[in-house]
Amino acid sequence: MLPLQIRQLAVCIDNKALLHNIDLTLADKGVSILMGHNGAGKSLLLRCMHGLIEPAAGSLQWAGIHATDINSRHRQAMVFQKPLMLNRSVAGNILYVLKLRNKPKDRLQQHLQTAELESQSRQSARSLSGGEQQRLAIARALACEPEVLFLDEPTANLDPEATQKIESQIHHATGKSIKVIMVTHDVAQARRIADDVVFIHKGAITEHTKAKTFFTTPESKQAHDYLAAYVKPV
Ligand SMILES: Nc1ncnc2c1ncn2[C@@H]1O[C@H](COP(=O)(O)OP(=O)(O)OP(=O)(O)O)[C@@H](O)[C@H]1O
Ligand SMILES: [Mg+2]
Repeated sequence: MLPLQIRQLAVCIDNKALLHNIDLTLADKGVSILMGHNGAGKSLLLRCMHGLIEPAAGSLQWAGIHATDINSRHRQAMVFQKPLMLNRSVAGNILYVLKLRNKPKDRLQQHLQTAELESQSRQSARSLSGGEQQRLAIARALACEPEVLFLDEPTANLDPEATQKIESQIHHATGKSIKVIMVTHDVAQARRIADDVVFIHKGAITEHTKAKTFFTTPESKQAHDYLAAYVKPV
């Protein structure tokens, strides 16, 4: 369903322009990362791309189909910044999605395995740790067999090992040619997994560059300053 083409998009809530003059084309497979300060508009843009917010102006199309078209939404899956667990077991959460999307039940084991949650399949989803809940939320999203997966800060507050497990799920998704569009504040993580980076500042895109360029010679002053504030690990 790519390319995603956004032209002159604006989002206004309560008469406030929260996103403006957004022009963006995401054509490639792989991982596109949205970065920017808190409140810049990253989550808002992700929701717009998923067709959850109707823009005040401009257009957003997936291979020519309007983003809010339900058929286009069903070819994507999103994991929110604070994912909600259904009040069921781990397996029950995945089975719910498989049934909803008419996928064979026997795919459960494979999804549990990719999420490294096989041994906890009967545990209540709400009793999982933060990292485990994130993995389950991603497993549920992957159970939809989407063409595009949106992830909003999937590793915020996770330790390095839990982060690595999520990155392995992301790697699994891209290996299946699923396009990943993700928000992170973790610069080291973005360097590890991004193919291209979109930098958002105060509701506008200041640059969209290949990851290598972004991390070595960012084009916009805002991205340069954001990266300069990052303390590299020794
Ligand atoms: N429903 C809403 N009503 C009013 N303002 C909103 C609404 N949703 C978002 N905003 C505002 O839009 C701005 C961008 O919010 P958004 O959640 O996209 O930020 P973000 O870049 O994801 O930040 P963070 O890194 O902290 O998650 C913020 O100032 C937020 O308060
Ligand atoms: Mg956010």
